[in-house]
Amino acid sequence: MGEFVVRGGRRLNGTLRVHGAKNAALPIMAASILASSPVTLEGIPKLRDVDVMIDVLTALGAQVRWENTSLIIDPTDIHEYVVPEEVMMKMRASIFVIGPLLSKLGHAVAMQPGGCSIGDRPIDIHIYGFSQLGAHITETDQGTRLDGPSLNPGTVHLSYPSVGATENLMMAAALIPGETRIRNAAMEPEIVDLAQFLEKMGARVRGAGTPDIRIVGQSELVGTRHTVIPDRIEAATFILAASATGGQILLENCIIEHLPGLSGRLRDLGVNLVEKDGDRVLVDAPRTFQTTPVSLHTGPYPGFATDMQAQFMAFLLGVPGVHVVSERVFENRLGHARELRRMGAQIIADQRVALIYGGRPLHGSTVKALDLRAGAALVIAGLTAQEETVITDREVIERGYEDLDGRLKALGADIDCR
Ligand code: UD1
Repeated sequence: MGEFVVRGGRRLNGTLRVHGAKNAALPIMAASILASSPVTLEGIPKLRDVDVMIDVLTALGAQVRWENTSLIIDPTDIHEYVVPEEVMMKMRASIFVIGPLLSKLGHAVAMQPGGCSIGDRPIDIHIYGFSQLGAHITETDQGTRLDGPSLNPGTVHLSYPSVGATENLMMAAALIPGETRIRNAAMEPEIVDLAQFLEKMGARVRGAGTPDIRIVGQSELVGTRHTVIPDRIEAATFILAASATGGQILLENCIIEHLPGLSGRLRDLGVNLVEKDGDRVLVDAPRTFQTTPVSLHTGPYPGFATDMQAQFMAFLLGVPGVHVVSERVFENRLGHARELRRMGAQIIADQRVALIYGGRPLHGSTVKALDLRAGAALVIAGLTAQEETVITDREVIERGYEDLDGRLKALGADIDCR
């Protein structure tokens, strides 16, 4: 495993283009399985998780290739419905192929997928949803087997607005003729992007972005061209890095409306976020922050995104005051508090709630990227710390950030990878 080495104390300054959203790209790549002809995707970030999804699709029989910046997926020869275990274990998002496979081939096998270690992350809501559409479920040595040679449209009420379950069910429903309704659906922007992609392939989707989604599926969906939305979590990470260093950056390809929980809080703290034309956002942070206690809890969209929680905590370390951060989406996603403490941060945390004593200087240390966003938080902390911070397990961070060191360097940061 490699490392990032950060020497703190430099203000970020410059212009940066936000990449396409990983969490939109992965389900949309999986949804390509549904088409009867090739799909062309633009804005797909070049990330490790995307490479794993390409491996998954290839293992199922798809032809996948890059043509400059376009990713072309030809699903016409897909015949396999079991993803090899070693590929499935690499990434949780490999669960996304279950819905499309079940609808297209009539069978799928779900193993407990791999990914970041931020809690148990069961798949019971996905399985329940498929059973409501008529899938027959059996537990086998390989995993949970789903058979549904003749699925029916229906109404599925989710017990929690799971992002992945909503997406998986939308994909399955798109190839089931008739109207399927998903209630208590997740409302994340990535759901809306997937809905637009399914519509371009020929399904009819209404209500994406609300808790009540209706999908009128078709017996055939055709290949199309689609550009994925900008990555709101990547944008948030750079906004927080710039704010933590008292910097000024211009983000291109950034939709500020996708960051409702973050933008309001940063403005309250004195960070100027100015929308410019053409999806550009200027971030202008004060050099020091006034004493302001901050309290936040994570939640499903439009709540504060759990994927920004760690980076926000790193930023809060520079804001004088006692802050409370409560993690309500995953049951074990505050592990970065321990790593931040190695850098001198004063944080008391259990599995769900952290008390942060902000406004005290951080010092460099050797710390570990426990998950992708926790790792990004350590990079932000490193940018503000005195001396050198070494962040181990760099590859964990690279699952979700393309060329993080190169892009931070272009903004003036002192960061290397080795
Ligand atoms: C997606 C995102 C991830 C983000 C998360 C929450 C992708 C590829 N990943 O993950 O980055 O952190 O949304 O915004 O888009 N749950 C169950 N049973 C289920 C499914 C989920 O109990 O069947 C629980 C999970 O354990 C978790 C909560 O529901 O506590 C939210 O999970 P979910 O919304 O499904 O997240 P993911 O789709 O896995």
